[in-house]
Amino acid sequence: MKGIILAGGTGSRLYPLTKLINKHLLPVGKHPMICYGIERLRAAGIRELFIVTSKMSAGLYAEYIGSGKAFGVKVTFAVQEEAGGIAQALSLAEPYIVPGERFVVLLGDNLFQDDLLAYVSAFEEQPSGEARVLLKRVHDPRRYGVPVFDPERRERILYIEEKPKQPQSNYCVTGIYMYDTEVFRHIAEIAPSARGELEITDVNNAYAHSGKLKYDILQRWWTDAGTFDSLQEAAVKLWGVQL
Ligand code: G1P
Repeated sequence: MKGIILAGGTGSRLYPLTKLINKHLLPVGKHPMICYGIERLRAAGIRELFIVTSKMSAGLYAEYIGSGKAFGVKVTFAVQEEAGGIAQALSLAEPYIVPGERFVVLLGDNLFQDDLLAYVSAFEEQPSGEARVLLKRVHDPRRYGVPVFDPERRERILYIEEKPKQPQSNYCVTGIYMYDTEVFRHIAEIAPSARGELEITDVNNAYAHSGKLKYDILQRWWTDAGTFDSLQEAAVKLWGVQL
């Protein structure tokens, strides 16, 4: 299975830091943020990675990660020219994926401790054309995509609401997703949102509406490091981690 790390975007919630450098290269503890995602995928046996970066800092990625050899992985890079949303960034990976192949997609600012192996194995058991997302119980679901569960069948996500004012559960859909090539068909069919971006939540809802979205719940620590508070929290939590 391949891994795709999405590390583009403008990182505007971290201005002015991200006016100088791509968010996913900011230091977290003793390493640039991107290194933790690479390590989590590698630990799950995923050694072939496709990393989508922004134009800003593309050279630094090449310099720091190179072919991936020093990280025990093989890396291919792509550049997202303009911030067009998570789903648009993901679509850049289409030529890299063999028809029928399955892959894990990771938002590069999602930092976590869970081992992905069991979740990846569960996804491998699903029929083709389905997807799997990882959820986490959070205190402030309004910041995230929030699943609405079927009250009769809790194992079923009815749909996901993106940054709802009144969340219907205490869970967030983390930036860890599993798909096969069917996802590119869904991306081609969704329309840009009000902010002009192709939203990953719309893609996941295409699966949820037809009962093809399964999930697991992360058991250990997780954060997205996309705000100053969460970046600070991640830096403290991961301070002692040597990769
Ligand atoms: C994105 C997704 C959101 C998800 C979050 C996880 O939000 O749109 O559904 O819960 O990542 O990190 P963003 O951080 O781009 O606002």
